[in-house]
Amino acid sequence: MPKHLAIIMDGNGRWAKRHLQMRTFGHEAGAQKIQQITEFCAKYGIAYLSLYAFSTENWKRPKTEVHFLMRLLEEYLDSKFSTYLDNNIIFKTIGDLSIFSPNLQQKIHALELTTKEKCTGLTQILALNYGSKDELCRAFLKLTLAQEQTFNIDAIENALDTAGIPPVDMLVRTGGEMRLSNFLLWQSAYAELFFTKTLWPDFSKEELETMLLEFKNRNRRFGGL
Ligand code: IPE
Ligand code: IPE
Ligand code: MG
Repeated sequence: MPKHLAIIMDGNGRWAKRHLQMRTFGHEAGAQKIQQITEFCAKYGIAYLSLYAFSTENWKRPKTEVHFLMRLLEEYLDSKFSTYLDNNIIFKTIGDLSIFSPNLQQKIHALELTTKEKCTGLTQILALNYGSKDELCRAFLKLTLAQEQTFNIDAIENALDTAGIPPVDMLVRTGGEMRLSNFLLWQSAYAELFFTKTLWPDFSKEELETMLLEFKNRNRRFGGL
């Protein structure tokens, strides 16, 4: 059983294209999928679920798509507030939020604070304006400013956005690409990798369950024997 599962939710645009729709339609369908998979993971007993929602590189997309994604995120936070509480899910974000509008930042922090106070179940970690390289740069800057003398593994891990969260045990990427696209590079050093051609809006709890069964049979050696 993985303690920490990370998912690169890829393939929304291609899913929309397949349905002869605009890319935005795919993002809407993708956002809907988040709740279903999160609830399944909570029932399955997974403690931490990290979801890649928007990368530091995704700003390269056309302005209209970026703008749509920001609005979708805001709507998602508004509409799902009570769902987190009802399902006992702790909401957390990683990534550099400083780029977001003060209103959006306030909504994110409100959900983080309320669920931290009231919930005790699965921690869902949404990666927003997240990139591993950016996270590491911010961590090194933090350590330098704190005049930290020792740049050892523990010190670096405590300065990452994921401080206090166990390493990724299992990493899933939907959408058919076989790459990590700057997601949790440090934290996935010993993660078991799973790639599927299924596009994120079509991903199902049944497919995830099959992967979880395979995970159990993998022999994790961590460099030992
Ligand atoms: C993933 O789907 C969602 C985000 C990156 C925001 P994509 O939008 O990357 O979908 P494809 O890869 O173009 O199909
Ligand atoms: C990775 O998907 C980022 C998210 C899922 C948020 P991309 O679609 O941005 O990745 P690349 O560009 O194919 O590597
Ligand atoms: Mg993509």
